[in-house]
Amino acid sequence: MTPIELEIGMGRAHFLFERASIVPTHQVVGIEYKERWVKQALRKQQREQIYNVTPIHGDAWEVVPQLFAPESLSLIILNFPDPWWKKRHHKRRVLNENFLEILVSLLKPDGQFFFQSDVLELFEIYSKLLESKLKKLPCEENPLGAKSHREKKCEEFEKPVYRILLFKNNPLNQRLASSSCSSVGGNLSSGISSDTTSKSSSKSNKWLSLALSSSVKCLVASLAPTCA
Ligand SMILES: C[S@@+](CC[C@H](N)C(=O)[O-])C[C@H]1O[C@@H](n2cnc3c(N)ncnc32)[C@H](O)[C@@H]1O
Repeated sequence: MTPIELEIGMGRAHFLFERASIVPTHQVVGIEYKERWVKQALRKQQREQIYNVTPIHGDAWEVVPQLFAPESLSLIILNFPDPWWKKRHHKRRVLNENFLEILVSLLKPDGQFFFQSDVLELFEIYSKLLESKLKKLPCEENPLGAKSHREKKCEEFEKPVYRILLFKNNPLNQRLASSSCSSVGGNLSSGISSDTTSKSSSKSNKWLSLALSSSVKCLVASLAPTCA
């Protein structure tokens, strides 16, 4: 089975494409509700024929529960979610107890969740929530080998970034994950699946990408008619 990774709120999709090139046998799905970023990612995906990337337009709260089967995701990534500073806007924050419960149910038993933010206040709130459902492994560096647009900006302006890596269940192979977590640019993929270097599933990736895309077309048509 092709491992599926999900990035919530992919923005300009820098992370999505970099990650897809690092794990060519994984399907990397990104969900974003700003239409222009999704259209841009779709154009890049088609122009460069990158079959293991699936950009999806929609609200993660609506799309995610419809799109994925229980225990189907190897990795969920939340890069620099919007802080929604004002108290009256807190209800728009993407991670809440209900949505996290759904996300946890979609993670495989050995599934992992990576979250990073440059907003300490939000990091503390989300980390607490995440740690209530998942087992944490503190992370100083990004272990995934791919960087989002916001992460690159933080690096450029030397802004601190707070990170956490969590496991659905106690990690059997802590060694792999912790070694990735302690080195800049380490690659977590080896901790997720043993087939990351195999080329044999490139056809199934293509198939999966097309299959996802067609179901996504229905979703896009029903949820976001302007992007259909
Ligand atoms: C601060 S930006 C970060 C973008 C990117 N992850 C990065 O690190 O550069 C947060 C992104 O999440 C998207 N977003 C927020 N809530 C969302 C939701 N419920 N569903 C889909 N996208 C969402 C926003 O549109 C925005 O592009």
